Amino acid sequence: MKQYKIAVVGATGMVGRTFLKVLEERKLPAQSYTLFASARSAGSKISFMGEEYTVQELNEHSFDEGFDIALFSAGGSTSEKFAPIAASKGCVVIDNSSQWRMDPEVPLVVPEVNPDDIKKHKGIIANPNCSTIQAMVALRPLQLKYGIRRIVYSTYQAVSGAGLGGYQDLENGMKGEAPKKFNHPIFSNCLPQIDVFLPNGYTKEEMKMVNETRKILGDDTLRITATTVRVPVFMAHSESINVELKKPFDLDELRATLEAAPGLIVQDDPEHAVYPMPINAQGKDETFVGRIRRDESVENGVNLWVVADNIRKGAATNAVQIAQKLIEMWESK
Ligand code: A2P
Repeated sequence: MKQYKIAVVGATGMVGRTFLKVLEERKLPAQSYTLFASARSAGSKISFMGEEYTVQELNEHSFDEGFDIALFSAGGSTSEKFAPIAASKGCVVIDNSSQWRMDPEVPLVVPEVNPDDIKKHKGIIANPNCSTIQAMVALRPLQLKYGIRRIVYSTYQAVSGAGLGGYQDLENGMKGEAPKKFNHPIFSNCLPQIDVFLPNGYTKEEMKMVNETRKILGDDTLRITATTVRVPVFMAHSESINVELKKPFDLDELRATLEAAPGLIVQDDPEHAVYPMPINAQGKDETFVGRIRRDESVENGVNLWVVADNIRKGAATNAVQIAQKLIEMWESK
């Protein structure tokens, strides 16, 4: 098997460090790894794969040496500038920012859901928004079996989704300190605002869920609405998902469909208070679903409660899984 040259851009960040953890666990056929960040942390040391790596400053010539794959999580403007440079040098970029997600030339991929879209890449593959990824893992099997008419998302999102600053606002807020990252205190509070507001009254995060869901599920006619909320939880996003299916369903059969779905674990035993929770999903690569019940107010409606680690499946794990699929595709040629 060929050994690949892999770059990690934003290696010092919250997602970047989780890239490294997931890469250590999954052991890709790598000839070498190179870790990039900004000038601020260039020269700093990170221990990875049992060795000490020196972080390099990302610049226009970083990709000259010919990488096969680069995992990016260094913000939208870094991706905007450097992903095309990397791609022009023959490197495939797997980008965690929102910069390229809705570009029609760029596949938006959840490996359990639409792996074949990877083949359409022209040098950049986008990793979806964290709250979209976990919803896709639970909804794709229902779409395939019953068809989906409408989705109502209500999210309960962890502070780590806002990076280190969000994490610290909760930690410091518990000690009575004022927030720095969020507009309001997050400790003992819920913020019905994630990212900025758009002219239609939705937040950017809400519209990401709407637009990315349509793109990944390949259905522009899907009716979707979303309310995204930041809650005082450190790790793992929770989502209440109300779905109207196109076809009638038997609830046991629907549950069995979810049980058979890749990357999804059903935790649904209400009598014993068993359902997905952030404290249990933290550190895991799977998506968890429970509270599976009929929505009796509409025809063919079902309610789900979906939880996943937003930094792992919602970001790093999904990106590394894309890299693994890409390598599989190269190897099977
Ligand atoms: P640095 O540590 O040098 O600032 P987070 O999302 O947790 O804030 O992490 C952002 C990541 O993106 C960090 O690794 C950060 O590096 C990196 N980064 C930010 N701006 C740039 C840039 N212009 N070039 C390369 N890496 C960048």
